[in-house]
Amino acid sequence: MKKTLTDIQVKGKRVLMRADFNVPLDGKGKITDDSRIVAALPSIKYILENGGKLILMSHLGRPKGEYNPELSLTPVADRLSVLLKKNVKKMDDCIGEDVEDAVNNMSEGDVILLENLRFHKEEKKNDPEFAKQLASLGEIFVEDAFGTCHRAHASTVGVTEYLPSVAGFLVQKEIEYFEKVTRDPDKPFCLMLGGAKVADKIPVIENMLDKIDFLLIGGAMAYTFLKTRLKGVGDSRVEDDMEDTVNKIFELASANNVSIFLPKDHVVAKEIKANAKRKIVKEHIPDGWIGLDIGPETVKSYEAILKESKTIVWNGPMGLFEMKPFSVGTRELAKFISKLDATTVIGGGDTAAAVNQLKLGNKMSHMSTGGGASLEYLEGKVLPGIAALNDK
Ligand code: 3PG
Repeated sequence: MKKTLTDIQVKGKRVLMRADFNVPLDGKGKITDDSRIVAALPSIKYILENGGKLILMSHLGRPKGEYNPELSLTPVADRLSVLLKKNVKKMDDCIGEDVEDAVNNMSEGDVILLENLRFHKEEKKNDPEFAKQLASLGEIFVEDAFGTCHRAHASTVGVTEYLPSVAGFLVQKEIEYFEKVTRDPDKPFCLMLGGAKVADKIPVIENMLDKIDFLLIGGAMAYTFLKTRLKGVGDSRVEDDMEDTVNKIFELASANNVSIFLPKDHVVAKEIKANAKRKIVKEHIPDGWIGLDIGPETVKSYEAILKESKTIVWNGPMGLFEMKPFSVGTRELAKFISKLDATTVIGGGDTAAAVNQLKLGNKMSHMSTGGGASLEYLEGKVLPGIAALNDK
């Protein structure tokens, strides 16, 4: 068990907190989904209400170690000021004299947001000198950036060499849910996977097969599975050279008594365009057509399995969710899952974005804020940003 915020005293202390404010922007500096900022509020409020001096740090996007005004954290500071109803002082850098002066002049309950950590190439390299400079700003380190815990960077792992380091409430909640579903899930347990690539999900399937009862597959990865079952997939996107891997998954599933379900019908189109001619086909997709969503019969049959399940983990949309005509399968299943009395854990990234668009996030037991991080947890990997925290 890792130490958490409630295991330490924050009063009067400079608390350096890593958050994951890597939020989507519309290209004009407007945040299109603030859920990652909202998810960090419980830790932020706790620290401020308990007299801490809060120094927040995060990355935004992938600026490659150089300043890029489009990836400045200013919109995050503005949003945070509104949410907290108090001024969040945004710095122009994350290290240096100005930052040190500002930090030294803080009073209890003040909050500062450092500029994008990845404007320094040393961040991703976990450079010890850079980590030391960051750590010197605080007296305690709080890790609340679950979405970045799979990265061994200066702000996630490096700083823990120099400061007492604990998990924030968001990381604590994410650990609780992922530990529960990977170690002691209520059964029956249904894993629902979608998204583009089978290759991305294989380590998850391999690690979870001895824990789950049902595996539901959708999204483009379903066509690679269907092809190995000798179903016609038309011009759908398939991955080459996956036959052995998919066959191995079926063998492992049968050895573990896991039932794998594949789509029975499909929404297909001639082109990947929202206004393309489309239709619903059963079983085989004819040549010249591309599968872009699961069909209504599949939705019904997946709902029947989900209804029986006590634990549901979902990662990856069921179709090309970004285009409305191909978002129905994902939307219908999200609505269905949101009404179930089961432990429902939604992987971050695209799946969380889809559920958030439908405003169903608060109807799920847990909406993970980590895309890559939640996948690595399900793969059974140790996340370096969590491993580096102090034990109780
Ligand atoms: C994410 O969006 O998954 C996290 O913020 C990590 O971002 P990264 O993949 O650029 O490290």
